[in-house]
Amino acid sequence: MKGSLLYEGKAKKVYHVTDEAEKLILSYKNDATAFNGKKKDEFEGKGRLNNLITSRIFEYLQQQQLPSHFIKALNDTEQLVAKTTIIPLEVVVRNIAAGSITRRLGIVEKSAFNPPLVELFYKKDELDDPILNDQHALYLTNVNDKELEFIKQKALQVNEHLKDLFNQAGLDLVDFKLEFGRLEDGTIVLADEISPDTCRLWDKETGEKMDKDVFRESLGDLITVYENILQRLEENTCAK
Ligand code: TMP
Ligand code: ASP
Repeated sequence: MKGSLLYEGKAKKVYHVTDEAEKLILSYKNDATAFNGKKKDEFEGKGRLNNLITSRIFEYLQQQQLPSHFIKALNDTEQLVAKTTIIPLEVVVRNIAAGSITRRLGIVEKSAFNPPLVELFYKKDELDDPILNDQHALYLTNVNDKELEFIKQKALQVNEHLKDLFNQAGLDLVDFKLEFGRLEDGTIVLADEISPDTCRLWDKETGEKMDKDVFRESLGDLITVYENILQRLEENTCAK
């Protein structure tokens, strides 16, 4: 049963589970924020879409032997997950240049990265999530060398599986952000969410942006786009 509120973030609320200290409930909100909360809005149905999309994706990854904190979807907007302590790193994998890397390094949008790039950002709103090198990450978090390597390898494995999944759905996976958490016993697992809020997805045929850039750049109706993503995933994954 849903217990007390543990934490409220920009896109989700996190609740305790009564009598099950090792589990949490994530409740997806309708809020959308961009540019570290400087742009804000609310979209009826967004919480449901991100919950259902993330659930599909984590189920798919589990079928590919890639474990995460995900246990199951509970209803339209909530999911049950294993309790982890989130490592304050945003692990970004890039297949195609877009977003901050084009501004930071002057790389032309749509340039391909072969092999894909892995970037680390410090998850700290007060600092605007600055980019880190490995030594910064080792200094600022409690992960060791081997664990950081593990995290980067996992992120690249997730990339291979997600590229396949989205490819079948007619989408190019441009880039995405992952977060990892530590279970009670210290094991590091994939956590947080994987949704069009945390991925860049471009339609393979039209090149149309089908992710949170629609909101960031005011390109159209976010809900129609996210519904289309869920529908494509439903056609390309089997429900449990
Ligand atoms: P960036 O190009 O802005 O660095 O974003 C890279 C990817 O990470 C993109 O798919 C969006 C995602 N992302 C998040 O999920 N959360 C964030 O706070 C930011 C800045 C990016
Ligand atoms: N997630 C960040 C925010 O909420 C930035 C972004 O996704 O663009 O502001």
